[in-house]
Amino acid sequence: MIIGKIARISGPVVNARGMEGIKIRDLVRVGELGLVGEVIEVQGDQVSIQVYEETDGLKVGEPVKSDGKPFLAELGPGLLGMIYDGIQRPLEIIRDQTGNFIARGATGDPLSRTRKWHFVPTVKAGTPVAHGDVIGWVQETRAIQHRVLVPEGGAGKILKIKEGDYTVDEPVAELDTGQKLFMKQLWPIRRPRPIVQKVAAGVPLVTGQRIFDVFFPVTKGGSAIVPGPFGSGKTVTQQALAKWSDADIVVYIGCGERGNEMTEVLTEFPHLEDPRTGQPLMNRTVLIANTSNMPVAARETSIYTGITIAEYYRDMGYDVALMADSTSRWAEALREISGRLEEMPGEEGYPPYLASRIAEFYERAGRVICLGSDRREGSVTVIGAVSPPGGDFSEPVTQNSLRIAGAFWGLDARLAYSRHFPAINWLTSYSLYLDALQEWYTHNVGTDFLQMRRELLEILQKEDELKKIVQLVGKESLSEPDKLLLDIARTIRDDFLRQNAFHEVDAFCPLKKQYYMMKAILVFYEACRRALGTIPYEGILKFPGWEQLSKMRYIPNDQIEAFFPKLIEELSQKELKIVAS
Ligand SMILES: Nc1ncnc2c1ncn2[C@@H]1O[C@H](COP(=O)(O)OP(=O)(O)O)[C@@H](O)[C@H]1O
Ligand SMILES: [Mg+2]
Repeated sequence: MIIGKIARISGPVVNARGMEGIKIRDLVRVGELGLVGEVIEVQGDQVSIQVYEETDGLKVGEPVKSDGKPFLAELGPGLLGMIYDGIQRPLEIIRDQTGNFIARGATGDPLSRTRKWHFVPTVKAGTPVAHGDVIGWVQETRAIQHRVLVPEGGAGKILKIKEGDYTVDEPVAELDTGQKLFMKQLWPIRRPRPIVQKVAAGVPLVTGQRIFDVFFPVTKGGSAIVPGPFGSGKTVTQQALAKWSDADIVVYIGCGERGNEMTEVLTEFPHLEDPRTGQPLMNRTVLIANTSNMPVAARETSIYTGITIAEYYRDMGYDVALMADSTSRWAEALREISGRLEEMPGEEGYPPYLASRIAEFYERAGRVICLGSDRREGSVTVIGAVSPPGGDFSEPVTQNSLRIAGAFWGLDARLAYSRHFPAINWLTSYSLYLDALQEWYTHNVGTDFLQMRRELLEILQKEDELKKIVQLVGKESLSEPDKLLLDIARTIRDDFLRQNAFHEVDAFCPLKKQYYMMKAILVFYEACRRALGTIPYEGILKFPGWEQLSKMRYIPNDQIEAFFPKLIEELSQKELKIVAS
């Protein structure tokens, strides 16, 4: 045990003396209260510590203790469904102990010490095992089998292993080296968990959100950023993704945003059902809450705690999606700590290492071959919200995130203001994953899926050009085909891209429905274009198809096959019959 003394206190940063032997990133307990902190700078026996709890009341001379280990996340069965703060203290348990807030210095085990799990071995005595090998599993929730992995440094032959009910503190197996294996393991959060290698990702994270799945998809293992000004829909978007995307596991980090946004998640999620499994959504979810009223340093850590948990499930062979709302608050925490350390500031006061920290975080996303003798693949997809001050995307956090993320979903204040939600700007957003996903979409949705996507985007781009002309010379100057294009573009925007996150049906749109909706619009457009030669533009505006298209997004998901093929048939034929008669 290293024991020093507080020498200086500056907000969340405390300096201590007499800490010989301490290393950077070691966990410390600060003051009489034992506040949790992490060493972020070492000079001889003097250290700077970022303290994860409010520091008022601390006094110079109070003790600082450490056993010389970094902050370790606790990983094992029981993570799913939990709500943690940035340093993995379970909010529920701590609340029960201390009332409605987390008392300073409070501790709580991340995983229950008393709950028993039924462990089923998958290897026998005599089997040689090493880091990353699966030795057995427990049914963590109804949909998720928790694979028990050999921890780092564990290598040998299995001496004893037995099916039965165990707590996370009881060994489930023993190696011939004498080492005992548990269902629980510890991991330093700032170190990426090792893998065999990253592999190319060719499967989309299906989100049920049309603007993402059709226009700007992200792969399972890819990364996306959602920058946008206040009120443009970052949180609603992140929550929709947490609810509806087809990941096996979701880690949701509420980082530095207003407490009431997190309250919504905390009260709503436990009542929601996973549309794919019919199971409670919380059964696949881990929530990490570090809202704006909680200490700034723990906010910095919440990102790493979250991604470590994500990697842990990836290592079992699962597809994990991580949402962080908002990475800007994390970067601001970094800036505040850096300021207290009196480091040389970089752009806009952020520390010079901002870019590398952001890159390191997004690089923990990926599709990987997991460690272990059986071949498993898993993925971590990272989706980070960014809140640039004033909505100015040229600021450092947006720019540095943009450089590394593969998809850019730019929220637009003007769209939000006109209540076009999700307010993703379709002209400036992009995805670099389309080539990688081409084959998947072709095989799994429709050979013409990407072709239709291209046509829709082209119409919207043409609309943008035509609108500039209309501003100059008025709509009357346009040709009839161009007028028609503007009407179809409006249909694409209003009836396809707009999606109400709060509507029972519209909130989640299966891929097949997205496919049919695109097809319906394009088939109708084609029919209208053909009719233009025969009947006047005003007559085309009276086609019942416009009305039908405006209702299709509310068709319940169990009626898709009964409804859409008929609609598409009608839209392509009927209008023409009107014309012919
Ligand atoms: N997809 C959506 N569907 C319906 N309403 C939305 C949608 N996205 C955003 N909104 C509306 O915009 C408001 C602000 O969104 P929010 O996500 O809280 O913004 P931000 O997190 O960017 O500050 C929401 O309260 C909601 O009324
Ligand atoms: Mg928000």
